Amino acid sequence: MANQIVASILDCDFRRLAAEVEAVDGQVDRYQVDVMDGHFVPNLSFGFPILAAMRKLTAKPIEADLMISNPDRFAAKYAETGADYVIVHVEASEHPRRIFEAIRKAGGKPGISLSPGTPAEAIREFLPEVDMALVMTVRPGFGGQSFMTGQLQLVKAIRAWSDELGLGLHVEVDGGIKPDTARLAADAGADLLVTGSYIFGSDDYRKAIATLRSHIA
Ligand code: DX5
Repeated sequence: MANQIVASILDCDFRRLAAEVEAVDGQVDRYQVDVMDGHFVPNLSFGFPILAAMRKLTAKPIEADLMISNPDRFAAKYAETGADYVIVHVEASEHPRRIFEAIRKAGGKPGISLSPGTPAEAIREFLPEVDMALVMTVRPGFGGQSFMTGQLQLVKAIRAWSDELGLGLHVEVDGGIKPDTARLAADAGADLLVTGSYIFGSDDYRKAIATLRSHIA
């Protein structure tokens, strides 16, 4: 499967969200809306209103990354509000299967995520029930952090399990993704590369995305 660039909007200029999306929409493959509740992660970001706005701004697939406690309460509503994919963090949920079912019933595709410190085995049993697995390559909560290379082993393991089971799973990485780390992640088996500050922190979005894409081709 072709490697794809996923633009995280966490570090975009929210004074001009429509212009920011318009500036990258022709070059990125997907968007990620980083939902944070200030409880599961030590930061508070945004929720349904920003997702609803994003849904009106692009026809590209949108992922809602639920970095929240009690995701079972809200996961289906993120699908109903326009997210094509809704990602649940395994550390936040005692009953992921119920949430995956609710997401699909609401018309979305479920994903499962794990953060540094959580072993890959924690999500292995859920892989046949999701469309994507997200390996966080930073501690969730903030953009602009440094890539944690130790997470590459988990990417390799999850890609191997997906191949063994014939799942054709999307494997995603998120955090500290720049051209060099994107290459490392793609070589380890990731096909979805989430990047925020590398694009929206640059002074030339088009050039930043083109450079990233040249490193993951
Ligand atoms: C962490 C966030 C970030 C964001 C992208 O919780 O989810 O990973 O998406 O951040 P950077 O700026 O590292 O690409």
